[in-house]
Amino acid sequence: MLRFNFSKLAVIFALIICYGCNNSKEDAKKLTIGFSQTGVNDQWRKSMNESMQIQSDFNSDIDLKILDGKDNVEKQIEDIKQFIKEKVDVLIISPIKSKPITPFVNKAIEQGIPVLIVDRKIDGQNYTSYIGGDNIQIGKNAANYIASLNKNDDKKILEITGLKGSSPAKERHLGFKYVISAITNLSITHTIEGNWEANSIKEPLNTYLDKNKDIDYIFCHNDRMALGAWEILADKKLDKKIDVIGVDGLTGANGGIQLVKDKILKATIYYPTGGDEAIKTAIKIINGEKVAKKNILETIVIDSRNADIMSNQFDKIIQHQKDILKQQEKIKLQEETYTNQSNVLKIVFGLFILSIVLGIFSIYSGYNIKKKKQELEASNIEIKKQRNKIKKIATEAELSNEAKVNFFTGLSHEFKTPITLILSSIESLSDNKTIRDNNLTKDIRLIFNNSKRLLRLINQLLDFRKAEEHQFKLKASKVNLLEFSETIYEDFKYEAQKKDIKFTLETNNKDLEIYIDKNLIDKVYFNLLSNAFKFTPENGEITIKIEDHKNKDFINIYFKDTGIGIPRDDLDKVFKAFFRGTNNNKSSSGIGLLLSKEFIELHKGSIAVSSKLGTEFTIKLHKGSSHLSEDEIICETDVLETSVINFFNEDEDNVFNESSIADSQDNYVILIIEDNLDLIKFLKSKLSLNYEVHLSNGIDAIEKALDIIPDIIICDVNLPDKDGFTICEVLKNDLRTSHIPTIILTALESRDSYIKGLESGADLYLTKPFSFSVLSQSIKTTIYNREKLRYYFINNIHKINSQENFGSTEQDFIIQINNLIEDNIDNSNFSVEIMAENLNISRVQLYRKLKAILGVNVSDYILNTRLDKAKKLLKESSLSISEIAYATGFSSPNYFSTSFKSKFDTSPKQYRDT
Ligand code: FRU
Repeated sequence: MLRFNFSKLAVIFALIICYGCNNSKEDAKKLTIGFSQTGVNDQWRKSMNESMQIQSDFNSDIDLKILDGKDNVEKQIEDIKQFIKEKVDVLIISPIKSKPITPFVNKAIEQGIPVLIVDRKIDGQNYTSYIGGDNIQIGKNAANYIASLNKNDDKKILEITGLKGSSPAKERHLGFKYVISAITNLSITHTIEGNWEANSIKEPLNTYLDKNKDIDYIFCHNDRMALGAWEILADKKLDKKIDVIGVDGLTGANGGIQLVKDKILKATIYYPTGGDEAIKTAIKIINGEKVAKKNILETIVIDSRNADIMSNQFDKIIQHQKDILKQQEKIKLQEETYTNQSNVLKIVFGLFILSIVLGIFSIYSGYNIKKKKQELEASNIEIKKQRNKIKKIATEAELSNEAKVNFFTGLSHEFKTPITLILSSIESLSDNKTIRDNNLTKDIRLIFNNSKRLLRLINQLLDFRKAEEHQFKLKASKVNLLEFSETIYEDFKYEAQKKDIKFTLETNNKDLEIYIDKNLIDKVYFNLLSNAFKFTPENGEITIKIEDHKNKDFINIYFKDTGIGIPRDDLDKVFKAFFRGTNNNKSSSGIGLLLSKEFIELHKGSIAVSSKLGTEFTIKLHKGSSHLSEDEIICETDVLETSVINFFNEDEDNVFNESSIADSQDNYVILIIEDNLDLIKFLKSKLSLNYEVHLSNGIDAIEKALDIIPDIIICDVNLPDKDGFTICEVLKNDLRTSHIPTIILTALESRDSYIKGLESGADLYLTKPFSFSVLSQSIKTTIYNREKLRYYFINNIHKINSQENFGSTEQDFIIQINNLIEDNIDNSNFSVEIMAENLNISRVQLYRKLKAILGVNVSDYILNTRLDKAKKLLKESSLSISEIAYATGFSSPNYFSTSFKSKFDTSPKQYRDT
C-alpha cells in the first residue's frame, strides 16, 4: 500500500525550495586566472594589475589571483610552481628574465595549463599566447624621434638600458641601435646598463657626465630611469643642454606624460601594459576560442605636442572604466534584488505546491484513517465477540469447576454421616457385654480406628479446600501446652507400645501457657505424629520436646523421630501440596504438612524441617497474645467443634445416664427432622429409651411440629423440601411453636452456616460427626434450661405485664393471654376455646404451649387470674363479696367462695376481715 511520510515530504520540498533559491552565478565554480607579476613596486606594474583587475571584474565568474615576484627570479619561480599546483585555468606570466623562467613555463604547458606571456618574453615559443608592446618598435620610435628633431646636426646619444636578460631591454636596444646606425649625424656614444629603477643608473651616469659632458640626448628604456637621469642632469645644470627621452608614457602624477608636460622629459614612448588585453585573451582561452600566438600592442611617441591629448584620452578611458564599474555595481545590486525576489517567489510557489500536496495528503490520510477506523471497529467487534466467548467459557469452566468442587465437598460432607453412624454404633457396641465377653473388642477397635482414620482424611480434604479459600479463622485460647500435648500423646501411646517405640514427651516448663487454636494445633500434632509413627521402624524413638526460651517471646516444639528421614533434595518441597518423599512408598494424601504449615502460620508462627538420622520438625510459636487480633482470641475452646468421640475415653466421657434421665424426666417429646434413615434409626433407638420420639423426613416437619408441639426439636439442614434453617425459622416465628428449643444437626461446619443457624433462631448447632454423648447431654441441658425458664416465668408472672423485657417471644404470648383474661374478667362464659380462638391457635396447641412455658393448664391459669383479681378487690375495694364474685367472672358467689378457699386456704370473708 502506498504510504505518505509527511516528514520526508517536507524535507524534499525544503530541498527543492533551497535549490531553487540558489544564486547560480555565485555558486557556480569560478574560473581562476593566476598572474605571476615581476613585482608591484612601480607605477607601471600597478597600472597593469589595476587594468587586469578591472577587466576581470567585468566577468563575475573569473577569479583573478596575482602573486608578487618582488623582482626576484627565485621568488617568481616559486609563484609559478604554486599556480601549477593549484591547477589554475590560465596562467599569465610577466617573466623578470627570459632564460631562468622558461623551464617553468614549459612545465605549466606540460601540465595542460594554458600560459599567457605578457610584457617580457621567454626563450622559445612554448607558450599559448604572447601579449605586449613592440619593444623593437619602441627603440626605433625613440631613434626616429631624435632623428626627426635633428636632420643635419651631429648629435651624441647616451643610452641607458633596462635589466640585462629581460627581453624589453634587449629589443628596445636593438630597435634603437638599428635606426641610429642608419642615420649618419646620430651616434650612441655610451651605454649604461640599468635594472629599470632610477637608483641603478644615478651613480654610473654621474660618473660618466663628470668626464663627458658632450652629449645631446639620453634615451632611457623607461620613464623611471629617465626621471633619475634628469635629476642628475639638473644637479649638474645640464638639464637644459641634454634632452631625456623615456619609455612607458603612463598617465597620472608621476607618469611619463606628466613628465613631458612638465618639460622634464623631451618625450616618452608609450608602452601599454596590456593588462586588460591579457584578461580578455585569457577568457577567450578558457572559453575555448582561438587566440593569436602573438598579440603585439601599438606604441606611440608622446611629446609636448600630443601630451595633453594623450593624457585626456587616458583620463577619459579611466573615467569610462570607472563608470562601467559603477554600472556594473548597480547591475549587481539589481541582480541581487532580482535573485531575492525570485527566491521569495520560489518559496511562495514552493509553499503553495506544498500546501496543495498537504491538502491531498490530508484528504488521503482522512480517507485512510476512516478506513482504518472501520477496520478497527470491525476487529473490535470481533475481539468483543471472542472476549464474550472466552468469558462464557471461563464462566462455564468456573461453574463446572465450582460444581465439581462443591460436589467433592458435598460428597466429603456426606461421608461424615455414615462415619458418624459407624463411630456412634461402635461407641454403643463397646458397651455391649456380649462383645466384651466374646473378646470382640479388638475387632471393634480396628473398625473404630479405621473409621476414625477415614474421618480424619475426609476432614483433611475439607480443611484443604477451606485453606484454599482462606476460610480458616483462628480461635485461640490460653492453653497449658504440656496438658494439651499430653492428651494427644495419650492417643499415640498405644501405637508406640505396639511397635516398641520409645515415645517421650519432655518440657522445660510444665506451666507454660500459650495462645493456640486447639482444634488446629491438634491437627498439626496429629499429622506430625502420624508421619513419625508411619516412618519410624520398630524399636525406634519418637520425641516431642517443648522448649520454653526464658527471656524470649517464643517457644519451640520439636517432633523428632529416628525414621527413614527425608532426602536432602526433597526438604524444600515437604510443605508443598501433594508432596511425597522420593523414599516414601506408603500411601499418603500429601496435604497434611501443607495444612500444618498453614495452621502454624495462622498463629504467626513457623515450621521448619531438618533430616539427619531421622526427621525433625521444629515449630516456633509466640508467647502471649499481642501477635493476635482481638477477634482471633476466644475465652474458651469452641465446644461446638468437638469432633470425634474417643473410643478409649468413652467410659469417662459418657455423661449420658439413661436411668437418671428416665427417673427425673417423664415423657418429654422429641421431634427428629432428618432424612437419613440410618441416622434416624440410630437416634430413635438411642433416644426412645428416655423420650417420646417423633420422626419427620423434613417434608411434613412444620405440620408435625404444630401438631405435636414437642418439647425439643432436632433438625438436620440438608433436607428434601425446605432446609433445616428455613424450618427452624418458620417454627420460631410461629407463636404456637416459638418456645420449642431447636438443635440444628448438620455436616456443614463453616462459620457462615453456623451464623445462619443461629439467625434462624436455633438454640444449638451441632456438626457431624457428633458424639452421641454430646447430643444427649445437649438435649438434657436444653430441657433443663427450658425448665429454668419456666420456673422463672412462674415466679415472675407479675412482672410479665410490666415494661421489663424478658427478651423472648414467650413474654408477648403471656401478655396476650393476660390481656384477654383481663378483658373478660367479669365474663363467666370466657373459656379456653374462646381464648384459643382469639389467639388463632387450636385448643390443644394453646394447652401445650402454656403447659410448656408455665407448666400449668389454661383453665387453671384463667381461674388463678380471676382469684388473684378478686383477692385484690377484696383488699382494695368496698364491693360486696357477691359483687366481687360476678366482677371476676364467677357464675355464682358460692362457686367463687369454694374456689377461693381451695386456693388460698381461707374464705373471701375471712380474708377481707383479716
Ligand atoms: C616596469 C618596467 C617598465 C618597462 C618594463 C619593461 O617594471 O621597468 O618601466 O617599460 O618594465 O619590461
